[in-house]
Amino acid sequence: MIWLIGNKGMLGTELALLFEEKKIPYIGTDRELDITDPAALNAFAVQQAITWIVNCAAYTAVDKAEDDVDRCRLLNSAGPANIAAAARYIKARLIHISTDYVFNGTGNRPYREDDPACPIGVYGLTKREGEIKVFEHNDASYIIRSAWLYGKHGNNFVHTMLKLMEERDRVSVVNDQRGSPTWAGDLARTVLALITAADSKAVPYGIYHYTNEGNITWFDFAQEIYAQGRRLGRLTKDCAVTPCTSDEFPAKVKRPAYSVLDKTKIKTALGLEIPAWDLSLGKFLR
Ligand SMILES: NC(=O)c1ccc[n+]([C@@H]2O[C@H](COP(=O)([O-])OP(=O)(O)OC[C@H]3O[C@@H](n4cnc5c(N)ncnc54)[C@H](OP(=O)(O)O)[C@@H]3O)[C@@H](O)[C@H]2O)c1
Repeated sequence: MIWLIGNKGMLGTELALLFEEKKIPYIGTDRELDITDPAALNAFAVQQAITWIVNCAAYTAVDKAEDDVDRCRLLNSAGPANIAAAARYIKARLIHISTDYVFNGTGNRPYREDDPACPIGVYGLTKREGEIKVFEHNDASYIIRSAWLYGKHGNNFVHTMLKLMEERDRVSVVNDQRGSPTWAGDLARTVLALITAADSKAVPYGIYHYTNEGNITWFDFAQEIYAQGRRLGRLTKDCAVTPCTSDEFPAKVKRPAYSVLDKTKIKTALGLEIPAWDLSLGKFLR
């Protein structure tokens, strides 16, 4: 049995749909079982025959986190520690999700798993603390770092762009941040591929990077959303998409300028063929 924590979030929803489609036994929890309450987690864990825990719960509001440090740390650092401890208590293996925001984005080649983490905001800092705590509490853990996620559920860049492009004649999008858009559906399939592989052979515990293939700027992404949205009838009117710089969009926290992740490790471990970002966008929009 898989325990899916954060089953109502963007990634959690995709995982729940995938488990249901594949008829994989799982039990999902979200806010009603607070990850900051270790006793509640342990009490729940012992009632089920759980062999895997997948944690998708987190504090993900990157800007808000700057003024809400304690809550963000509780969810992104103490929460994963509690979950890892619960996993160890019931001898379950854990897959925890982390982020490209553990890097500062000043690199000029894709970040590898063993590159030093150096987060620049509260969200990235607390996610990094969470990674460390996961391994402190349970060696039998995998962490998958991903980036630029979008999916059916929740606020994300694709939904925002489709809405703005339908409402406005012009949208300006930053062209100085580079990364890899990643469909949460693809990440969900990768989580399942990891569980399946690790159930049948030794897959070393540790950190793995996963995004869709290719890297672009948010402006490039918006242009493709517009082109595909028009082609597929998701957008019903013309809209100009223009590039701008991050300085034109003042935000509480600086975003990494370069957050491309090296995926060699996960591709080798699981024999994965990773879909290109634009093909996955097309599947998502269809
Ligand atoms: N989104 C991205 O672009 C992105 C990129 C890279 C990595 N990630 C990582 O991927 C993972 C999944 O992200 P996501 O975008 O799917 O997150 P999400 O949509 O924000 O989902 C997180 C879920 O956790 C729930 N939650 C909040 N507090 C909780 C608590 N105390 N106990 C139990 N559940 C609680 C949330 O409920 P409420 O909605 O009611 O708060 C929500 O359903 C996270 O670890 C995130 O850091 C995300």
